[in-house]
Amino acid sequence: MGDIRNIVILTGAGVSAESGIPTFRSTAGVTYWEVYEDDLAPRHYRIEDVCTPQALANDPALVHRFYDARRAALAGVRPNAAHRALARLDAAWPGELLLVTQNVDDLHERAGSRRLIHMHGELRAALCAICDARRPHDGALPPGSACGQCGAPALRPDIVFFGEMPYAMDRIEAALARADLFVSIGTSGAVYPAAGFVRMASACGARTLELNLEPSAGSDWFDETRTGPAGTLVPAFVDEVLRPTA
Ligand code: OAD
Repeated sequence: MGDIRNIVILTGAGVSAESGIPTFRSTAGVTYWEVYEDDLAPRHYRIEDVCTPQALANDPALVHRFYDARRAALAGVRPNAAHRALARLDAAWPGELLLVTQNVDDLHERAGSRRLIHMHGELRAALCAICDARRPHDGALPPGSACGQCGAPALRPDIVFFGEMPYAMDRIEAALARADLFVSIGTSGAVYPAAGFVRMASACGARTLELNLEPSAGSDWFDETRTGPAGTLVPAFVDEVLRPTA
């Protein structure tokens, strides 16, 4: 892998697909989220009905129910070989490393990753719409739940909706500026600002690598694209990075 010290890795829904969490988009243009709320048929939600501030204002019960179901589903999934390989890299890498995930599941941390940012929020957290306090939260979160910090009945899922600012952009941009290697794993490259990270890293001199089931919308921006399932590609990539150079 050459002379690399600082690594930034971006992950998307594809890294959790082999754990059984459905992705959002595909080449077939599927743009709904599928959620099992009981043992019967899955419900399909359009992204714009559950992932915008307007949706939360118009139908809080629907939005809360959608994230309650996704939070509950975490109990039935486990980290896969890709999450585990990234945790192994985090533990072994002596230089700077930042794993930025767009995923709101907790599979990276359950696999053992520590240097991790959830730029789109976390299912297992609640955000106060009044005072912005963010707290760990498990179980259902009914609309009108009271904030432990300010007392307002204004807790909402800690999810960055379309039109809202992703978390920790300052830290992410600083890491991208220092990166020698930027790796994007399992993301369609359809949602900004994450889709622009490859160009930012490249402009600052990083080598750029994409690991995805299929070439993404931004594939042309990468120095190299490897196609295949993350559960196979990511462990091989980590072995390569950690292999001692002669
Ligand atoms: P997408 O569903 O848009 O894209 C998932 C990508 O993973 C696709 O390019 C698939 O080809 C690829 N993929 C599927 N299975 C894979 C596997 N086993 N191994 C490797 N790749 C695989 O998901 P994201 O790019 O993460 O935002 O979506 C970005 C954001 O859009 C999400 O964070 C979410 C959504 O709206 C918010 O919730 C704010």
